[in-house]
Amino acid sequence: MKHYLVTGGAGFIGANYVKYILKEHSDIQLVILDDLTYAGNLGTIKDDLKDPRVEFVKGSIVDPQIVQSIFEKHPIDFVVNFAAESHVDRSIENPQLFLQTNILGTQNMLDTAKKFWTVGKDEKGYPIYREGVKYLQVSTDEVYGSLGETGYFTEKTPLDPRSPYSASKTGADLIVVAYSETYKMPVNITRCSNNYGPYHFPEKLIPLIIKNILEGKKLPVYGDGSNVRDWLYVEDHCKAIDSVLLRGRTGEVYNVGGHNEMKNIDIVKLTIATIRRLLEENPEYGKALKFSSPDLSWLNDDLITFVKDRLGHDQRYAIDPTKITTELGWYPETKFADGIVKTIRWYLENQDWVEEVTSGDYQKYYEQMYGNR
Ligand code: NAD
Ligand code: TYD
Repeated sequence: MKHYLVTGGAGFIGANYVKYILKEHSDIQLVILDDLTYAGNLGTIKDDLKDPRVEFVKGSIVDPQIVQSIFEKHPIDFVVNFAAESHVDRSIENPQLFLQTNILGTQNMLDTAKKFWTVGKDEKGYPIYREGVKYLQVSTDEVYGSLGETGYFTEKTPLDPRSPYSASKTGADLIVVAYSETYKMPVNITRCSNNYGPYHFPEKLIPLIIKNILEGKKLPVYGDGSNVRDWLYVEDHCKAIDSVLLRGRTGEVYNVGGHNEMKNIDIVKLTIATIRRLLEENPEYGKALKFSSPDLSWLNDDLITFVKDRLGHDQRYAIDPTKITTELGWYPETKFADGIVKTIRWYLENQDWVEEVTSGDYQKYYEQMYGNR
């Protein structure tokens, strides 16, 4: 029986991971720690919270008392740290919050785990840890910076973050490495590319485009839309994290990528075409539209509007996942063509969720970012 502590488990990837491990492992206990910021929603995990294996704690990863109280109550074996401020655009507006949550929160999680996992000291003074424990830091390919037209990020690519978000994630990675080197703590870092799939908060590209289409709004593409991201279906990512946690070599970094590079403009056009096809095939999906529409002639590329570019916009991300594939046999199982249809279908069928998560400050955020388009 393993006791997991999953932080950020009410957010996009964390919630998908919670669902994944509850499905994959019957003999686990799970504590979810989440501060329920704008990005965390209990509705996303409401069914999982009914599972007797699960306990939810509302609190911040930055708060030593809260984290300590979890370790006092549960014999935690694994910490999987998803909790973070995760949106680049917001980091440009408020960098300090990103440093606090992403760096200090990570350090607090590491420190508390070290304290509770230490069972002695070796002759050199290094801590000795309880058998079978591990800390996994969920990081991002954005720590490697930006690529030109060619090349891939490997685990050996020098860290070269450009945005306040990626700088804060790099800071967190470095403190994880410091705990591994200085205290010999058993850790892994995973660095993945852009995820997509169910429960993705509609401030990020794909769910924002879906939401805007269903509202008949313009589709904001930054700059000229030529920026490239390497899209990974979220469940494939969850599987990668669990493989690294259970079988990854301690102290190692693993890149997790989709080999699914696409330009933003092509993502937006594909999303338009896919929604149109699904609405034509199944008129029931028309219920997801926020206005009545006798025909779908409006649903075309003219919805796209090119807006001011993001400051310091990274041009291209692309991951070389050779290490995780050769060592752990992981590969991205979901082809983008299938994953995007699954994702769009999910949004068409789960408009209640979208309304629930965007009922708070979302409107204010949207107007600040994009004006009232
Ligand atoms: P998200 O923004 O959807 O969710 C973040 C979660 O963390 C939310 O539930 C939020 O309430 C919680 N949280 C925020 N601050 C907290 C705090 N101080 N204490 C406790 N909980 C807090 O993010 P996501 O997209 O699910 O990303 C999860 C992790 O994966 C992040 O560490 C992110 O950097 C990393 N990542 C994401 C992507 C991606 O494409 N989404 C890609 C690479 C890496
Ligand atoms: P995003 O989903 O914010 O992820 P990240 O910045 O972490 O890669 O953005 C993905 C890409 O889409 C990025 O190049 C910025 C671009 N983008 C737009 O063109 N329009 C939008 O409204 C958003 C949110 C993003």
